[in-house]
Amino acid sequence: MSICFLNNEYVLLSEAKVSVLDRGFIFGDAVYEVLPGFGGKFFALAQHLERLNDNLNKVSIDPPYSSKEWEELLATLSEKNGNSDLSFYIQVTRGVAERNHFFPMDCEPTVFVMCTNLKSSSNPLIKSCITRSDNRWGRCDIKTTSLLPNLMLKNEALLSDAFEVILLKNGMLTEGASSNVFVVSKGRVKTPEVSNFILPGVTRDFVLQVLNELGITCERRTVITAELFDACEIWLTSSTNDLIGINLLNGKPVGNGQEYPMLERVSSAFTEAKMRSLTS
Ligand code: PDD
Repeated sequence: MSICFLNNEYVLLSEAKVSVLDRGFIFGDAVYEVLPGFGGKFFALAQHLERLNDNLNKVSIDPPYSSKEWEELLATLSEKNGNSDLSFYIQVTRGVAERNHFFPMDCEPTVFVMCTNLKSSSNPLIKSCITRSDNRWGRCDIKTTSLLPNLMLKNEALLSDAFEVILLKNGMLTEGASSNVFVVSKGRVKTPEVSNFILPGVTRDFVLQVLNELGITCERRTVITAELFDACEIWLTSSTNDLIGINLLNGKPVGNGQEYPMLERVSSAFTEAKMRSLTS
């Protein structure tokens, strides 16, 4: 059983408890992060902590720790879990208070961090996707735990034997229910620019850096639906799965549904750059 961190204590995950009045439980009044760690070294730690702080600011929760304190906490948790290859989940809620829609004035944030074993897989994974209308709220830039719309969409994918839902808003691509999206068509790589309709993915940024190092231009701009359906390659990016290639979109092959030359090139450069960049 793994050890987690809850409000300044390291405890068995099965024994960690929070109050039913926690605003994370009552309202989903909380933000979160997910980042991978390999043998006690972390991927894009500074970027994940920066996004966590940005999100805490956006929802007016006081940051509970400095970056240095977060780093120490994560290192300790990694060590207590045998420094294996782990995915770390950080959640900060506004804390425990009487139920009231107004933000309470004097609330101590609840801080919870757990880790799960990372599944090893051969890169890049190839999966199928469906598309759906993006019916989420207008602040998808905030990594909040209020994920019910994403869960409903993701479960539509499951019912269609697909891995992910690619979301479309007003004729434009936004992102996946739990990933960012890149499309390749006519030899060009494109991804939607960050806005309040997508999460500024840490993996997305890293892929942009890798593309730049490879001398491949990526257009960061509005991607219209037709460009998605005409793509010869579609990639998903996320901290849990790195880069994934899509072979089927709504049951139809993407490109010839079998070859991903650009993805293979970018994916191997990504893995090398990722391993080089790990920090303790
Ligand atoms: N999700 N967009 C959404 C809606 C996401 O939920 C995620 C990641 C991403 C990719 O972000 P990043 O590259 O920083 O992981 C984009 C995580 C992994 C999750 O909810 O478990």
